[in-house]
Amino acid sequence: MAWDFASMDTSELDATIASLEAEVETLSAKGISLDMARGKPSPAQVDLSRPLLDVLNADSDLNDEGVDAANYGVPWGIPSAKRLMAAIMGCDERKVVVAGASSLNIQFDCLVHAWVRGVRGEAPWGTLPRVAFLCPSPGYDRHFAMTEHFGIENIPVPMCEDGPDMDVIEKLVADPAVKGMWVVPKYQNPTGITFSDEVVRRIARLAPAAPDFRVFWDNAYAVHDLYVEGDELLEIFGAIEEAGGRDLVYEFASTSKITFPGAGIAAVAASPEDLADLETTFAIERVCSDKVNMLRHARYLPDLAALKAHMAREAEVLRPRFEIVASKLEEGLAGIDDCSWGAPRGGYFVSFRGPEGSARAIVALCREVGVTLTPAGATWPGGEDPKDRDLRIAPSYPTLDELSEALDVFCTCARLVCARLAREARG
Ligand SMILES: Cc1ncc(COP(=O)(O)O)c(C=O)c1O
Repeated sequence: MAWDFASMDTSELDATIASLEAEVETLSAKGISLDMARGKPSPAQVDLSRPLLDVLNADSDLNDEGVDAANYGVPWGIPSAKRLMAAIMGCDERKVVVAGASSLNIQFDCLVHAWVRGVRGEAPWGTLPRVAFLCPSPGYDRHFAMTEHFGIENIPVPMCEDGPDMDVIEKLVADPAVKGMWVVPKYQNPTGITFSDEVVRRIARLAPAAPDFRVFWDNAYAVHDLYVEGDELLEIFGAIEEAGGRDLVYEFASTSKITFPGAGIAAVAASPEDLADLETTFAIERVCSDKVNMLRHARYLPDLAALKAHMAREAEVLRPRFEIVASKLEEGLAGIDDCSWGAPRGGYFVSFRGPEGSARAIVALCREVGVTLTPAGATWPGGEDPKDRDLRIAPSYPTLDELSEALDVFCTCARLVCARLAREARG
């Protein structure tokens, strides 16, 4: 059934609203309690990495190509772990520092570096009257929260179908107070969009007024394809080299959504000069990171073939969840004016866009019925979606049955909210 409220006459629309209200009431009485807010792997997915726990034992050789993983030293990562993280990011391992378990931690460290010490000899950002960051939106709430935490002004930039709006970005970087930009270039959180080659090349060609402007290139979903034919992202450092070789990007990745969230390994990649600059701060913060965990990961995922095989097993668990989202949204919302959603081929999220003024109402109604969604506005800087229309669906954690039930609730609530908005518009 196509839900075309626009073509209904008013009495038909009123009757539809009354019937949807009755449906919502019936759902409320069921005592449902489901959560579609959390972008974390399901237990079935995490269990796939359990063999990693057996890779090392008390008898294991803890030497990695001449490096003793069992002691201090070699602060920027053991050779095999650098190789693994370089393979994930698709860059040269000489550009990589492996540090800790969380890429968000490293992003925070890079901001601390810029704030306290300054990037490559420029004035520390903390001493400047105004520092701004570009925030393609909808985007990742924790990125925006991080810059907000430092008192940095977050400037929303529209997301288009092939990446952020580069016309807007090229204009905004002419302001020397604009010091950086958050991006998730592959299977973006939350839209699932992978930046086109043209967008990557335009980012690589950026000529910001601030010499200490850096793109925080968070490649969190670099190898997270749902299908054998995944999206292809142009490698950023190669694109920069082609464009003249300016130091422009800090790239980040982790194994959080490859092995164990919060207990994986994480890395930053940058030009050798940028890495040497970052290391002046990183060296104050730590003697070295957990090299035993690096060794465990590198032995479990020794090459690209092992990594791909592991990610294919992860995709087996995730793919049916994304397919349920696609079919339920199509069945439940097709034909409603101004409703659209993504069809990502990887990553962890599906982004939904409703009519203006619908998002908060949908979230509130779902909550009343017993389904928790990511709060409306969460994917915009400051939690403020100016048109109140974007929602993030996180299908990875619930079981297939739970997800199916949660999506039925979501679609019924969204239909009711949209029908009410269509009725209000008629006065
Ligand atoms: C874009 C993005 N970056 C980073 C993270 C978290 O990474 P980590 O666990 O390495 O800090 C997430 C988790 O959802 C994410 O979506």
